[in-house]
Amino acid sequence: MADDHRDTPDQSVSRRAFLKGGAVATGALSASLIPGAADAQLPDATEPDPHRTTVELKVNGVAYRKEISNRTTLLQFLREDLKLTGTKMGCDRLQCGACTVILNGRTVYSCTTLALEATGGEVLTIEGLTKDDRLHPIQQAFIEQSGYQCGFCTSGQIMSTKAFLDRVPNPTEEQARLALSGNLCRCAAYKKILESVMAASRLMRA
Ligand code: FES
Ligand code: FES
Repeated sequence: MADDHRDTPDQSVSRRAFLKGGAVATGALSASLIPGAADAQLPDATEPDPHRTTVELKVNGVAYRKEISNRTTLLQFLREDLKLTGTKMGCDRLQCGACTVILNGRTVYSCTTLALEATGGEVLTIEGLTKDDRLHPIQQAFIEQSGYQCGFCTSGQIMSTKAFLDRVPNPTEEQARLALSGNLCRCAAYKKILESVMAASRLMRA
């Protein structure tokens, strides 16, 4: 089949010549056919990157100031930037609660919270519960009651328990069950988890 020449030879590039010419032809085309291509400016390296922002926040009482991508989630910031790996990633889509941390006194799913949203705030993670090498009463209760099996969901369960018991120090089992309903356990250790929450409330009141 004949090549498709539609213009006069000095103005056109045939399909065959284009394919044969490869990068040279492509370069020639982009320089000659794309308006303004020759004058295109590379981004100024001294300009601030609009996709990155400096966040300032406290995590477990320690102040941090770091430049991060605007898309960094709080979970990524904790685990990858601060190396606080006690907070786990389960579903990464707002379904399991393994990534639960406390931000300004309220539980959040850190997998779907941007680190930017925490700017100026205070984050508490599982690492921040232990004081002077002494376990928090909630951690103690989970151990004593065996409120876990594989343990993957446990830090999220404990952080939800912490926010709950700070609000409701003497709960009923029904209240506790409802408060932890956003934390799934694939091992289905729910009975033991509930017993741990109730034991923790007793320990904290004592
Ligand atoms: S990892 Fe965040 S909700 Fe599952
Ligand atoms: S203890 Fe295994 S997922 Fe909860």
